[in-house]
Amino acid sequence: MVVVATTIEETGTAISDARRRGLSLGLVPTMGALHAGHASLMSRARRETGFVVVSIFVNPTQFGPHEDLSRYPRPFEKDVALCDAESADLVFHPRPELMYPPAFKTYVEVHELQDMLEGASRPGHFRGVATVVLKLFSIIQPEFAYFGQKDAQQVRVIQQMVRDLNVPVKLVVCPTIREADGLALSSRNQYLSVEERKNAVVIFNALSDIRKRVEAGERNVPALIRAAQERIDKVADARLDYLAIVDHDTLQPLQTLTGRALVAIAVFLGRTRLIDNILLEIPS
Ligand code: PAF
Repeated sequence: MVVVATTIEETGTAISDARRRGLSLGLVPTMGALHAGHASLMSRARRETGFVVVSIFVNPTQFGPHEDLSRYPRPFEKDVALCDAESADLVFHPRPELMYPPAFKTYVEVHELQDMLEGASRPGHFRGVATVVLKLFSIIQPEFAYFGQKDAQQVRVIQQMVRDLNVPVKLVVCPTIREADGLALSSRNQYLSVEERKNAVVIFNALSDIRKRVEAGERNVPALIRAAQERIDKVADARLDYLAIVDHDTLQPLQTLTGRALVAIAVFLGRTRLIDNILLEIPS
């Protein structure tokens, strides 16, 4: 049965014990509301490390003032059951006051990478993400940490933080898990009405259409974006927040496709904002 720890002391004891037994540590950081995407991270961590820790913490500092912090789903018992089914060893489930005591003053900023795409739509988001992830790394001290490619910019921000601050954690990036129609799994999919859920497939279809056009030889970024925008405009309830084709490393917009490109998209379906992305490799 997976053990649940809510304090740093309990967590430290479990981790020291695992280390004494010579086990390598894998961390799967989550905000709960776990789904098959998280399960795939846990199962990879299970295969590759000896002691799997899943953190479940809805991190307040990565939500903007008008975002969904208070209504973010928190099905804790169901989450623990999934961690158990995936044979995780420990769930770290701190209270917000433990992570952010009243005198908390230190934040991590990954300049430039934090400001575009999601960062432009959600100012302060990556400051919150980088800060909490560094705290989780400090508390758990994993050798490996598992993240989903679905949050491509988050991965890039954390990679940069790890590199810049010499954080001794190896990041493992796992593929996006999708529903049968292509919609990327997300804890926020459960906000969608039946109609919005049907319409949400436009996100994957728009990305797939870009991939097809690129495979057919299209290299003009504005033309690719225009075609996707038109497709999304035709769908009731769907509103494009951003669609950008950027360099995979710098996240700077590309005018002409070359090298490794990230196609990143955020779309509102009604009040629910969903993100997705694909990677394109353009042979030179
Ligand atoms: O991807 C998430 O669920 C969160 O951003 C993370 C990495 C757990 C930090 O709160």
